[in-house]
Amino acid sequence: MKGVILAGGLGTRLYPLTKVTNKHLLPIYDKPMIYYPIQTLINAGIDDILIVTGGNSAGDFLKLLGNGKEFGLKHINYTYQEGEGGIAEALGLAEFFAGGEKICVVLGDNIIEKNIRRAAQAFQEQKEGAKILLKEVPDPERFGVPELKGDRIVSIEEKPKKPKSNYAVIGIYFFDATVFDIVKTLKPSARGELEISDVNNRYIERGQMTWDILEGWWTDAGTFESLLRANQLVAQTGANKL
Ligand code: G1P
Repeated sequence: MKGVILAGGLGTRLYPLTKVTNKHLLPIYDKPMIYYPIQTLINAGIDDILIVTGGNSAGDFLKLLGNGKEFGLKHINYTYQEGEGGIAEALGLAEFFAGGEKICVVLGDNIIEKNIRRAAQAFQEQKEGAKILLKEVPDPERFGVPELKGDRIVSIEEKPKKPKSNYAVIGIYFFDATVFDIVKTLKPSARGELEISDVNNRYIERGQMTWDILEGWWTDAGTFESLLRANQLVAQTGANKL
């Protein structure tokens, strides 16, 4: 399985921190944000990694990460997203890299306390489809939110005003190679972006979506509140534990 980290966007919710740099290069305690999703993939046994970046300071990723020596990698792949077409559009740029293999996609601002090894192994054994990870949160309206019936996900709503559960769909997704066909059929949402929740809903409609609850804490870091929280959590307990 290959790994794709989505680290583009303009980071407008963090302006002016992101006026001259990319959100994923900002510090989370003692490391740049992008270090955490890279470690998440490596800890899951995934070492063939593509970073999709865009917007400000794309070249700085190369200066910071090089070929990934600091992480014990021999090579890192990079590609560039023009404009702000959304998470699913950025994912579409990974088709050539994936080359028909399964992928694990991590949003570049998602940080976890523990690891996703068990879910990654389960997805290796899953014949087809996709797998998502859920976490109970106090503010589901900020995220993609699943509607659950028993242990079945009925659908996912992106940033619902009235969330149908207290769970967030976290920004770590497992997809088979048909994800790229799905991306090509998507239409922009009200915010003008191709939404990852629409991709996930397509797998749910096909009856090909599995899910797990993530162990340990999880946070994103795309707003001032969550950026601060991410720094506090990493400083207090550390991230990406094996
Ligand atoms: C994105 C996804 C959302 C998901 C979240 C996790 O939201 O659209 O479904 O729950 O990441 O971090 P965004 O960060 O673009 O608001």
